[in-house]
Amino acid sequence: MKFFIDTANLDQIREAMDLGILDGVTTNPSLMAKEGISGTKNIYAHYKKICKLVDGGDVSAEVIATDYKGIIEEGKKLSDLSENIVVKVPMIKDGVKAISYFTDHGISTNCTLVFSAGQAILAAKAGATYLSPFIGRVDDITWDGIKLIEEIASIYSMQGYMTEILAASIRSPLHIVQAAKAGADVVTCPLSSIMGLLNHPLTDIGLAKFLEDHHKLNS
Ligand code: G3P
Repeated sequence: MKFFIDTANLDQIREAMDLGILDGVTTNPSLMAKEGISGTKNIYAHYKKICKLVDGGDVSAEVIATDYKGIIEEGKKLSDLSENIVVKVPMIKDGVKAISYFTDHGISTNCTLVFSAGQAILAAKAGATYLSPFIGRVDDITWDGIKLIEEIASIYSMQGYMTEILAASIRSPLHIVQAAKAGADVVTCPLSSIMGLLNHPLTDIGLAKFLEDHHKLNS
């Protein structure tokens, strides 16, 4: 399973890269706004900085346009920024049509804002590289985000679809483990959830005891 970080914050991307486990980055307009980046020129420059940091890893950059022509124009510009760019397109009618176009023209895509198996089938038929079901937001309305990943994974495997399931809207380390068990190909997570995977009290207790025993005879 690939690990992406879900942020536009350069320090957090650096920190995750430093751990040696990062395969890519996902962003969205809200995450870009959170970093205070505005204006097309600045936004594109920021994507370039992210691409440089991740050293060949995939970087999802989302289109703002919602009409077919606009999505194609914007997607091409984003794709031209770097080889790493994956054009993120919302699961809407013109978005699906645009994903088909990008697929035919060798441009990688991430179909975002996915909340149902039906949407997942459409995105795969259009040839999306990645599919982003938002599991945390499904949980928010008391449905089951992990069950959605399981359902999509089972359909994709049965039908032989090549689209990779990118579990998004991850809110905790437990979500990461559950997404892995449910068959996600990729998880995109906040830094806190990635780092949360490190924690276990028995590791801390065990390490303290090992060091104490060592120092008894070696100080
Ligand atoms: O990758 C999608 C993600 O950014 C949405 O997360 O926590 O806003 O639902 P969240």
